[in-house]
Amino acid sequence: MNIRKVSTTPFSDQKPGTSGLRKAVKDFQQPHYLENFIQSIFDSVGDLHFQTLVLGGDGRYYNRPAIQIILKMAAANGIGRIKVGQRGILSTPATSAIIRKYQAIGAIILSASHNPGGPNGDFGVKYNISNGGPAPEKVTEAIYDRSKVIDIYQILEAPDVDLETLGESHLGETVVEVIDSVQDYQELMESLFDFERIHQLLTRGNFRISIDALHAVAGPYAHAIFEQRLGAPVGTVRNGTPLEDFGGGHPDPNLVYAHELVDISYGENAPDFGAAFDGDGDRNMILGRKFFVTPSDSLAILAANAKLVPGYSSGLAGVARSMPTSQAVDRVAAQIGIDSYETPTGWKFFGNLLDAGKATLCGEESFGTGSNHIREKDGLWAVLFWLNILAIRQQSVEQIVREHWQTYGRNYYSRHDYEGIEIEPANTLIERLRSLLPTLKGKQFANYQVEYSDDFSYTDPVDGSISDQQGVRIGFSDGSRIVVRLSGTGTQGATLRVYLESYEADPAKHDLEPQQALASLITLTEEIAQIRKFTGREQPTVIT
Ligand code: G1P
Ligand code: ZN
Repeated sequence: MNIRKVSTTPFSDQKPGTSGLRKAVKDFQQPHYLENFIQSIFDSVGDLHFQTLVLGGDGRYYNRPAIQIILKMAAANGIGRIKVGQRGILSTPATSAIIRKYQAIGAIILSASHNPGGPNGDFGVKYNISNGGPAPEKVTEAIYDRSKVIDIYQILEAPDVDLETLGESHLGETVVEVIDSVQDYQELMESLFDFERIHQLLTRGNFRISIDALHAVAGPYAHAIFEQRLGAPVGTVRNGTPLEDFGGGHPDPNLVYAHELVDISYGENAPDFGAAFDGDGDRNMILGRKFFVTPSDSLAILAANAKLVPGYSSGLAGVARSMPTSQAVDRVAAQIGIDSYETPTGWKFFGNLLDAGKATLCGEESFGTGSNHIREKDGLWAVLFWLNILAIRQQSVEQIVREHWQTYGRNYYSRHDYEGIEIEPANTLIERLRSLLPTLKGKQFANYQVEYSDDFSYTDPVDGSISDQQGVRIGFSDGSRIVVRLSGTGTQGATLRVYLESYEADPAKHDLEPQQALASLITLTEEIAQIRKFTGREQPTVIT
């Protein structure tokens, strides 16, 4: 066995963001760049001998070469066994499920999630820990600290591993096991949902679904589960073959980037149900016939209907949402008498709540929903949850949402993103807002009176760790809110996110378009935050 010890020098920019280290492919292709970061992970996570590591990615450009490098580095670092997805493919939720099922020490996930791929797109590396979830900040900090001083990495000299054929081989003393990408995940889904009822729904009546995998990792999972197992006709899953550049698209399931599915769902003869997933399969968008379900509403509706679903029939311990996510789920929690937690943006903050049994369902406004079955958000899971509810309630998506609003009121909600703006003015905008915060309380702006204004700080109720400066919040006495923060996942310039929410109890007023319902709040946001002035933009790039 020939282990090469390679001298290297640190890169100063290997600080993981909201979700791992995400950079342009070209950055990762610099000599030693990937290797430095991977060695920093191995150096930070403790003794690797006799441990199992899970490895896979969303199939984007550079996935395969990166997997070969990581396999050889893992072997050189003495890992006992590596479970790698066939052809290097594993969705993020499947990876989380596999870590947990086989008690692996962790996983390396190669994905830049919803960011575009291809030679000019993005790549990413994420480390997940033994609970199946994203590494918490103390781990990512340790990795970053290591990356700043690293001077050597280890790699085995060996031929590439055959990733096509299932089964075991050896890389030095390490066992490399090429595993079916779908099987373990599908078994977990079958243990949570009533597959027979969903099968009936999809085969016995005229209920039709349309699923768009956006040429990303969810394709193989969707083909296997919806078409092969649940009987939906072949062709139900569109764009189901993972492509290195996602077919040139932006693998983000929202009304802008999943426009093909949106056109189908709003067109003639629209299907009863539509869904799309992101690059690594953890996000979901839910559509009814000519009807869009906001992710915040989706979370609230899953919580309100959880008892209909076998895996959740004994009730929920609690629910959790990221701070910018609408407060719709809080209303459900209050009604059923369970706790509702508000965490900073990013799935990693749900990990402790799930591990401690404080929350069962979690969600983010950014098209992420999940539960304690794994420690990541899970796109296919959310779709199966919806289908299970639909199979039992025998109503349309729209009817279910409208009844929900009648019961709990409607939280009008929208997010405005200003992508790729300049970093400096973006920071100035935020700093200026922060400096205004103490002066805003009690102030009157037209019909709005400020009830509170702060920069969200979170104290983890399990380990007491504190995360500051997680987003500027301005709340008004009528329950509406403006939240402003900078993205931690973008790779070009800065992305400003503005989250808008208002509450309407009266069912007679539940038919507005969200932009219309939020219009005066949007005007007020401009007045307070002066977005046009600082970004030079007249309009957001993306509205969801
Ligand atoms: C975005 C979303 C956030 C999500 C993350 C990873 O992060 O807003 O909810 O957890 O992607 O999918 P951001 O770019 O806002 O930091
Ligand atoms: Zn993702």
